Amino acid sequence: MKTKLLRKEEIQIAAEYIQQGKLVAFPTETVYGLGGNALDPKVIKKIFQAKQRPADNPLIVHVASEKQVKDLVKKIPLAAKKLMHAFWPGPLSIVFEKSKIVPKETTAGLNTVVIRMPDHKVARKLIELSGIPLAAPSANRSGKPSPTRAKHVVEDLSGRIHAVLDAGSCKKGLESTVIDVRKKPFVVLRLGSLSLEQIEKFAGPVVVATKKSTVRSPGMKYKHYAPDATLILVKGEKKIVDKKIRELATQYKKAVILKRSELKPENLFKVLRSAKKGIVLCPSVPEIKIQRAVMDRLEKAASEIITV
Ligand code: TXA
Ligand code: MG
Repeated sequence: MKTKLLRKEEIQIAAEYIQQGKLVAFPTETVYGLGGNALDPKVIKKIFQAKQRPADNPLIVHVASEKQVKDLVKKIPLAAKKLMHAFWPGPLSIVFEKSKIVPKETTAGLNTVVIRMPDHKVARKLIELSGIPLAAPSANRSGKPSPTRAKHVVEDLSGRIHAVLDAGSCKKGLESTVIDVRKKPFVVLRLGSLSLEQIEKFAGPVVVATKKSTVRSPGMKYKHYAPDATLILVKGEKKIVDKKIRELATQYKKAVILKRSELKPENLFKVLRSAKKGIVLCPSVPEIKIQRAVMDRLEKAASEIITV
C-alpha cells in the first residue's frame, strides 16, 4: 500500500477514507493521531497492526460533539461534565463507563472508554465530515517518540496506512492528559499537555497514578518514546546536573549534549526523533506545570537515568 499525503484542503477525501474503513493519520493540537472508525472492530485491528501496538493497550476515542459522547458512554457523571465544559476542546482525555456500541477491541477488553475532543479545527472537521467517532492512538510505531509533524508519521508508518492528512506541526507537542473522575480524588493516569496545576485550580487536588498502578492505564507499562540513540538523563539540581554532564562528556567523547532550551514541550519529540545514533546526554527540567509531562516522557525515553 502506498500511503497518500493529503493537504488540509482535502479533508473531505480523508473523511471518505474513514467511512470506507481505512486508516488516516490526522493532526491534533497534541500529536498526530492514527484515526479509524472507533466502532468497527476490523478497523481497530488494523490500527493495532499498523502501529505494532500491544493488544492490551486501549485507544482514545475522539469526538467533535457532546452528543457523540452520550452514545459512547453509560452516563456522563457531573464531574466529567464540568471538566468537559472547562477544558474541551482541549488536551484532556476522560475515562467513562463504555456503552454497548463501543467494541471491546477499542478498549482492549476494559469496560471503560477514554474520550477527548481535540482542539484542532482540522481534527474536528474530519470527525464531523466522517460522522464517526475516531479511535486514534499517536501515529507512531509503538515505542517510538510520538509524531508532531506529518513527516514523522511518514517515517514510521509509510506503506502501512492509507493516508496522512498534513496540517503542519502540532502546537502543544505532548499528548493529552488522561484522567479518571469516577471517584474522588480524581486520578491522573497519564501526565500530558493539560498541567496538574490547571486541573487542580479548577477541580481541587488530584492524585497521579504511580507506576505500580499500571493496571489502571495499561499503556504506561510499555517502553515509550525511545529515540534510536542511547539517551542518558541526568536528574537533579541544575548546577550539579550541568557538572555531571560535563564529566560524562569527557567520558563519551562524541556525545551530543541537549540544552534545556531544546526541551520545550512543542519541540521535545522532534528532538528525540532526530537523535539517531550514539549517546545523547540530557539534563532534567524542574517538575512543574507542563514540564512534569516533559520529565515523564524523558524518563520513559531514557536508557539510563542518573540522579545526582
Ligand atoms: O493527545 C493524545 O491523547 C493523542 C492524540 C492523537 O489525541 N493520542 C494518544 O493516544 O496519545 P495513545 O494511544 O498514544 O495513548 C492513549 C493512552 C494510553 O496510555 C492508554 O493506555 C490510555 O490512554 N487509555 C486508553 N483507554 C484507556 C482506558 N479505558 N483506561 C485507562 N487508560 C486508557
Ligand atoms: Mg502513544
